[in-house]
Amino acid sequence: MTKRILLCEISDVPEGRPHQVCAPERDDALALYKVDGELYLTDDLCTHGLVSLSGGELEGKIIHCPLHGGAFDVTTGQATEFPCKRALRTYAVEVEDGKVFGLIN
Ligand code: FES
Repeated sequence: MTKRILLCEISDVPEGRPHQVCAPERDDALALYKVDGELYLTDDLCTHGLVSLSGGELEGKIIHCPLHGGAFDVTTGQATEFPCKRALRTYAVEVEDGKVFGLIN
């Protein structure tokens, strides 16, 4: 079942840098990205190791993991650079009255 979870204010999300969000309903963090004005939401943990991707560098729609240089396309979750192979989970995002919600299942 999909839950609509309040993540943050839209003004909290910078363009070109990842933004970590922690929702009380979840044990693990999520990462928000604003790319060309569009918001994308993924799990925050790299699928290669237990490292927060929100500590990495966002280059266009590619997030680079800070540990081993692996990377993912934040718009699809697909791994784009070795050693990452497994895709990141992605989630739909809604914005309402300046608030950002994630649709989490
Ligand atoms: S932990 Fe992210 S690439 Fe290894």
